[in-house]
Amino acid sequence: MPEIFKTADGSNTLFSPEFNEHYHSTYGALNESMQVYIENGLKYCKEKTLNIFELGFGTGLNAILTYIESIKSNLTIKYNAIELYPVKHEVISGLDYREIFTMDELSIFNKMHNSQWNTEIKLSKNFILKKIESDFDGYIFKEKFDLIFFDAFAPETQPNLWSKENFLKVYNSLNPNGILTTYSSKGIVKRNLRDAGFVVSRLPGPNGKRHVLRAEKKLIFNFF
Ligand SMILES: C[S@@+](CC[C@H](N)C(=O)[O-])C[C@H]1O[C@@H](n2cnc3c(N)ncnc32)[C@H](O)[C@@H]1O
Repeated sequence: MPEIFKTADGSNTLFSPEFNEHYHSTYGALNESMQVYIENGLKYCKEKTLNIFELGFGTGLNAILTYIESIKSNLTIKYNAIELYPVKHEVISGLDYREIFTMDELSIFNKMHNSQWNTEIKLSKNFILKKIESDFDGYIFKEKFDLIFFDAFAPETQPNLWSKENFLKVYNSLNPNGILTTYSSKGIVKRNLRDAGFVVSRLPGPNGKRHVLRAEKKLIFNFF
């Protein structure tokens, strides 16, 4: 069962003894999620209506941060998140995000966790959540997305999820100009993303130490 772990920015994340992996950077869970997924992904998108897919719902931190940004920037979002190992309620309550979020935001966060799996849940006028309980390995996309939060455990731990074949599947699931963001900037990840057709940018990491990636599905038209 995952355990609570306090990261350097004061926000809690989980540690999985089974995978020997943290759910976020130990330098700061909140900082990492904000930079990798909200700043580099959501705020970079030009559309006001977005279909988002997250690999690994986990703590739900990316989902609640996306919800908060959707209110601030008046976005309409359908947020689809796949998770093979849903975290138990008693573990989620231990995350104790009272210092990070307002009461209203915490109430949405709890609704996210209490909502049924494999069902579309309307959390506000402009935000629908669909949690999918399934293995991403072998998962077949049934719709197209504008933005993908690729937040699996590390490539060393789950190499199958970061393979060229999986990125090809992800690439084909994106709309033209669609974006994938991820925290890993490993050489093999960059190579597999490029081999799958993405244009990859290496961006500064959240703590100034590491790099993170944004991969774009840029369609280049040749008129000649
Ligand atoms: C690095 S954690 C990130 C979690 C989440 N994005 C968050 O903010 O807490 C990786 C997540 O991927 C999930 N996961 C691992 N393997 C998976 C698989 N094959 N299919 C779907 N989810 C998986 C894990 O259970 C975990 O929740």
